[in-house]
Amino acid sequence: MAVDTPVPENIAAFLDTPTPDGWLDEACERLPEMLLDHANCELKAASTALGFLYRYPERTALAQRMSRLAREELRHFEQVRSIMSEMDIPFERLSASRYAGRLRDVVRTDEPYKLLDLLLVGALIEARSCERFAKIAPRLPDRLGRFYAGLLASEARHFEHYIAFARSECDIDDAEIDERIDDLLAIEAALIDEPDAEFRFHSGRPA
Ligand SMILES: [Fe+2]
Ligand SMILES: [Fe+2]
Repeated sequence: MAVDTPVPENIAAFLDTPTPDGWLDEACERLPEMLLDHANCELKAASTALGFLYRYPERTALAQRMSRLAREELRHFEQVRSIMSEMDIPFERLSASRYAGRLRDVVRTDEPYKLLDLLLVGALIEARSCERFAKIAPRLPDRLGRFYAGLLASEARHFEHYIAFARSECDIDDAEIDERIDDLLAIEAALIDEPDAEFRFHSGRPA
């Protein structure tokens, strides 16, 4: 029986635009590529978490949380690779997606704005991943659907951690943070809504 996974309310309320149905249709037809890119995304999520440890080692709460997050994302990476092996999907190198590249480009370089932007971009990526897992899980073969249903709860938690650290670690007032969140949400929504020539886990509307 297909899993029933509504998008968590906080995630649906946060994102500016839902994933277009066209992306979901495409993903179901291109499962091996989706899994391959998903595995890469988990690896990048682990590496992003480690990046905070290197850049901000003096921030104890942040460092402890990011260390745990990196381990959790690596577990996800291992799980996706196991599923790929079971399905006989070879692991290949994939070019980086437009989504992550564009979001990385808007991160400011001066502190504390750099830390704020890195945390907010992390929150956006986690929120979008969670939304896509929720939406695609009911359409997937049983075992994969259950796996994705399990992942979405982790990504919802990761989203909450990133947002909480953005508010607690940067010494920037809430109004300014809210304004920045709105700017980044608009950029993210365009990446999801605009036609995208490439298919990836975070790609836009299929061109
Ligand atoms: Fe993950
Ligand atoms: Fe995550």
